Amino acid sequence: MTAQALDQARALLKASRGIAVLTGAGMSAESGVPTFRDAQTGLWSQFDPMQLASEEGFRADPALVWRWYAWRRKLVAEAKPNAGHLALAAVKGRLTLITQNVDGLHARAGSTSVLELHGNILRTKCLANCGARFDAPDDLPHGEPPRCPACGDWLRPDVVWFGELLDPRVLAAAEAAADECDVMLVVGTSGLVYPAAGLPARAARRDARIVIINPNESDLDDQADLVIRSTAAQALPVLLD
Ligand code: OAD
Repeated sequence: MTAQALDQARALLKASRGIAVLTGAGMSAESGVPTFRDAQTGLWSQFDPMQLASEEGFRADPALVWRWYAWRRKLVAEAKPNAGHLALAAVKGRLTLITQNVDGLHARAGSTSVLELHGNILRTKCLANCGARFDAPDDLPHGEPPRCPACGDWLRPDVVWFGELLDPRVLAAAEAAADECDVMLVVGTSGLVYPAAGLPARAARRDARIVIINPNESDLDDQADLVIRSTAAQALPVLLD
């Protein structure tokens, strides 16, 4: 079944003029970066997202939230791109990569112009949104978060928290890619978080074929033309060979 879906997807990709790829946390699972919603191993099965991924939670306990992101930054820094990231990076032209991941592993694999819908954990920005943004240096403190050198408010990770809007330019570029592609590959996402999860339906409205790679069921399965029940690191090298 999976072999057949893989063959059909390969044929679709070969004939396509433009491919958009939407990735989620499952993309990096085989790099050792935990997903959010997998039972047992998902971050949101162990931690409270409203405490750790909202402005309210940060203001209530900045040091706790800062420490949690310091732990995740270390985890991500120690992780390596997997065979799936590398296979995507090896495709030249006609592929737009849209990711919900904040781990920067697509760029580290060599992908350029990655549309990071939910930001990047390796950057920091000012909580007051004074506009200051920084690449996180290696020696960021582990206790209290540092202060913004421009306005004095807290610095926070440059990721999208619950209740926050996505960067409108990044979202617009992702929507344009969904409008223009004739195949959308959806890799390793539960399809529960919008607006990212709305991109496959948007592409399908323009007659794009939707191909899902996920070892488990997702909320987007009924929108797919093909579902490949495999992992990102196993399926993508074969699919994009
Ligand atoms: P989830 O944790 O919700 O879903 C991960 C998906 O990856 C699940 O459908 C798994 O079945 C699948 N998966 C697990 N291992 C895989 C593998 N090796 N290969 C392929 N798929 C695999 O993660 P997201 O859908 O990315 O938001 O979650 C969306 C957003 O919710 C995240 O970006 C994050 C979170 O709150 C922010 O950081 C703003």
